[in-house]
Amino acid sequence: MAHEVVVAKAEEWQDGSLGIVEVDGHRIALCRVGEAFFAFDDRCPHAGSTLGLGTLHANAVECPRHQYLWRVTDGAALTTGGPLTLFEVRVEGDSVLLTVPDRWPEPAHWARHPRREELRRRHGFEEGD
Ligand code: FES
Repeated sequence: MAHEVVVAKAEEWQDGSLGIVEVDGHRIALCRVGEAFFAFDDRCPHAGSTLGLGTLHANAVECPRHQYLWRVTDGAALTTGGPLTLFEVRVEGDSVLLTVPDRWPEPAHWARHPRREELRRRHGFEEGD
């Protein structure tokens, strides 16, 4: 069942901050745009690089590897590739809370991977996941 966990203290994240938090062994990129926080899979949808080490330009994250851009507010790809995998996040008091999904999603960059089915089997994804 989905539940929330505290992933950060809002006061420690300035407007324009981008970083990585870990939840249940999963790396999540977290950023602050104004008063709002956004969270998404840290693995770039293009080739799996670490988005949390990228650059935030207003509400767009730039991947450090090939410099593609995604809008963090809705996950849309602004250059090329599939969308970001977003996670629900909200602020309560000084706590930034992330909703932990019932099942962690398949990394978006696997969609075009030549050995996708092998990866899915190895990591326990079933038909229809
Ligand atoms: S790995 Fe992120 S843009 Fe290529």
